[in-house]
Amino acid sequence: MQQFNKSLTSAAVQDAPRNPPRTSGFPVVGSIPGVLRHQTDYLMNAWREHGDIYTLDLGLVSIVMLNHPDYAQHILRDNLSNYAKGGEMWASVREVIGDGLVTSEGNYWRRQRRMIQPHFHRQKLAGLVTLMMEAIDDGMRDWDARAASGEPFDIAKAYANITMKVIVRSMFGRALDEHDADRLGEAMSYALDYMLKNMVYGKLPKWMPAPGRNRFHAMLEQVDAYLYTLIAQRRLVKDTGDDLLNMFLHLVDDETGMPLSDKEIRDEAATIFLAGYETTSIAMTWATFMLTQHQHVTDKMATQVHDVLGNRTPVFEDLMQLQYPRMVMEETMRLYPPVFWLPRTAVEDDVIGGYAIKAGQMVAAVPLTIHRHPEFWATPDSFDPENFAPDAAKGRHPQAWMPFGAGQRLCIGKDFALMEGALILSRLMQRYIVHPVTDQQPQIALSTTLTPKDGLWVRLEKRR
Ligand code: HEM
Repeated sequence: MQQFNKSLTSAAVQDAPRNPPRTSGFPVVGSIPGVLRHQTDYLMNAWREHGDIYTLDLGLVSIVMLNHPDYAQHILRDNLSNYAKGGEMWASVREVIGDGLVTSEGNYWRRQRRMIQPHFHRQKLAGLVTLMMEAIDDGMRDWDARAASGEPFDIAKAYANITMKVIVRSMFGRALDEHDADRLGEAMSYALDYMLKNMVYGKLPKWMPAPGRNRFHAMLEQVDAYLYTLIAQRRLVKDTGDDLLNMFLHLVDDETGMPLSDKEIRDEAATIFLAGYETTSIAMTWATFMLTQHQHVTDKMATQVHDVLGNRTPVFEDLMQLQYPRMVMEETMRLYPPVFWLPRTAVEDDVIGGYAIKAGQMVAAVPLTIHRHPEFWATPDSFDPENFAPDAAKGRHPQAWMPFGAGQRLCIGKDFALMEGALILSRLMQRYIVHPVTDQQPQIALSTTLTPKDGLWVRLEKRR
């Protein structure tokens, strides 16, 4: 790793705010070619070159990148009312998930968040552990055969399948059979994958052909058909299960006494799917990659899992004692935050770190760089779960680690994801030893999330 250029980090406080330094690129397209080639390397290098705040020039669009926890705190907490979720990217997300928690703003968002949040607290999620474990075991059903054959397989894909099952099962309980759950998952995944392209194609006139657009709309229709049918069916049976659909159906606004409409439930269900499945599977993939590179961490985790669980299926009460799998997840998401940038748009002129931010300017907090900031991490590029040992975070800047965002828009599924991650890693440790098939670091795909481009190929061995 190159030495970080510290003199630039404090370029800050000048009397009259200046414009942030700008990446140099080509005319019209700016830095797009560099970003397309190696998105995350480009962002790391630009940070080292330009410092904690700089403008990423993308031709017609530019984004002020914020690489210091203070600056992230500024847009997400201290002056959050000035930073909205506007612009093409959010418009494109809205097309898929409507006005769910991730996309809504203002009073509407506040109402939904107030109603939903209490149900995502750790204790409230206890009822989901059984459903989660069923989905995890289901997803690992063919892993023994894989271990017996010794064939390399893409564990990233397998995790995507597991986390999708976990979300579908947590959302709808056992109401969907496996075939329908997979089809809903596929339709959703297609719509989500297409979102980034939709951001670009959205600028084209409607009559112009855009590859994949028709399929995108067909998939959205399919998702709607599934979701509305499930909601209607559940309204009839008055089920009292532990799943999230049941929770949504019983929510009542304590100010107005009104329940959620079908459309609101559809949007929140689609949102939970969008927000909760790919992010967690990416985190699991990087965690597994880290385990294959750090034998002593794997050994320590396997020992803790063995001591707490032996061979039995984990239950909610075990999670308190399964601290090390959680530390591994947290440290993995420091080095590889699945959501590596959080974009916003400035509503009015502002000043960040002595630099001028104009109304309408896109800005983004960048966990990818913040998590490796040498002012806050002693060995920023090394993998060390002890960074998350009890008490280790004392005195640390609250935004030095922010894979789940910050402030009032903090991820509502944080406890859900950490719980799910600990359960998956525990099951993995109970049953398998994971061997890497190459020494190569996975390449990162061009995506809105930190996705390994070609998955993660491993070989499984059954643990005795
Ligand atoms: C490792 C897994 C996860 C990561 C890294 C992650 C990350 C994030 C981040 C960074 C945000 C803030 C986005 C912003 O401010 O622009 C967010 C918001 C959100 N996440 Fe997660 N998430 C994860 C899992 C989940 C799960 C499992 C669920 C649901 C079960 C979920 C539901 C949500 C929702 C609903 C929001 C919007 C909250 C709001 O704005 O009120 N997430 N997530």
